[in-house]
Amino acid sequence: MTSATVGAIDIVAWFVYLFSAVLFVVGLHFMNSPKTARKGNQISAFGMVVAVLMAFIVLFAKGFVNIVAVVVLVVGILIGAVAGVVSAKKVKMTDMPQLVSVFNTVGGGAAALVALNDILTKEGTPDIVVLITAGLGILIGSVTFTGSLIAAGKLQGIKWVKKLNLPGKGVWNILFAVLSVVSLVMLCVQPEQRLLWSILTTVFALCYGLVFVIPIGGADMPVVISVLNACTGTAVAMSGLAIDNVALIVAGALVGSAGVTLSILMAQAMNRPLLSVLAGGFGGGADAAAAGDGPEGTMKETTPDDLAVQLVYAQKVIFVPGFGLAQAQAQRELADLGELLKGHGVEVSYAIHPVAGRMPGHMNVLLAEANVPYEELVDLDEINPQFPQANVALVVGANDVTNPAARRPGTPVSGMPILDVDKSQNVVVMKRGRGMGYAGIQNELYFEDNTQMLFGDAKKSLQSVIAAVKELLA
Ligand code: TAP
Repeated sequence: MTSATVGAIDIVAWFVYLFSAVLFVVGLHFMNSPKTARKGNQISAFGMVVAVLMAFIVLFAKGFVNIVAVVVLVVGILIGAVAGVVSAKKVKMTDMPQLVSVFNTVGGGAAALVALNDILTKEGTPDIVVLITAGLGILIGSVTFTGSLIAAGKLQGIKWVKKLNLPGKGVWNILFAVLSVVSLVMLCVQPEQRLLWSILTTVFALCYGLVFVIPIGGADMPVVISVLNACTGTAVAMSGLAIDNVALIVAGALVGSAGVTLSILMAQAMNRPLLSVLAGGFGGGADAAAAGDGPEGTMKETTPDDLAVQLVYAQKVIFVPGFGLAQAQAQRELADLGELLKGHGVEVSYAIHPVAGRMPGHMNVLLAEANVPYEELVDLDEINPQFPQANVALVVGANDVTNPAARRPGTPVSGMPILDVDKSQNVVVMKRGRGMGYAGIQNELYFEDNTQMLFGDAKKSLQSVIAAVKELLA
């Protein structure tokens, strides 16, 4: 192949990758609203297909692939496509956060491999820009790989993963962070020894990913997940810079910047300094949960009929949805109950905690799916002053985000801003039994004088309450 043909292929590829990158940006813009999000996803996915096809064409046109490589590529694409389709169809909405963590694992790992391959197979000594960008791709991608793997295990509730613990956790973080960075610097200083230094960077960064996420548990996972998300994007962007691929650079930069923004928002929502996440300076895992003394007292139970009376005679009702609402898939029933009460002249609002559920915006997505008007969803800062005026706060499958234990030190949720549900005149909590929240501690709210429990699956409980309200209003 002549150098002119190679040059022409490179120019075409550059424009096609740029086109893909534009599609990613446009797709992301459509994801601004739940109404257009599906379209945005399709546009971005199309952009990705175009980029992958172009990569294929470049490989074949330049004669980079032999028969073994073709088999590896086809088998890889088949495995990836089947895994993608099956997971998209089978994985429940409540298991999405684990799936996203697994995707982060794969994304980070792939970015690290691309960067490793680039550094190790380059003819001659790679220039300093390639060494730095590829080195960062290896480092950040490897941290993301092991960190996201542990995060996925914790989110899936795998017992042995949740129980993993490290003595002197902060020491390990600092040790492996320093070793990873020193290896990366040595890679840049001694490029002739790049095999050694890139392997060491990979190994130390993989270890850092483990020690970074293992000690973090309880209610602090949202911050970690968004940091790992930011890392995946950054690793991909670095690998894109190393191999000079504009589609990778833009896709990575979009994910990375979105992840950084989300990390800052999550850290603010949880009232945690972001920098201390990276240093492992916070996190209450199994130890903290075990150390917490459980609240004392008894829980008072109520019935759907009783709750219906309270709701019908109320002037102001605040619904407090949490992970249990998603688990029960009871968002439509909750919206129906809201409509019934509004029709009767009751003021209804939905209190949205930023980390309720298992992924950022989880409650907003669920309630939008049930066509709850956007203006009825009220954020934490705005709803908290309203709880004392609420005749009834109806907590549907929310636990940690309502736990008053957060207001005092020494518990896994300490410092996290909570919804001040306990300040309402009456509180009714719908949950199946005495199960704990994600942080693994009992909720003091359930033992307060003004709290009553309605045990059972949220969907069934809400259906019974709706029937009872209809009967009262008939
Ligand atoms: P959780 O604290 O997880 O509590 C959910 C409650 O729902 C449980 O106590 C459970 O009690 C109940 N439940 C489960 N299935 C139910 C069903 N079918 N019907 C009725 N109730 C059901 O939820 P939360 O208050 O939303 O807090 C979220 C927690 O997850 C926080 O600790 C947060 O930090 C963490 N987290 C959040 C994210 C993001 S980004 N949002 C990511 C990772 C972790 P029973 O078992 O007794 O029913």
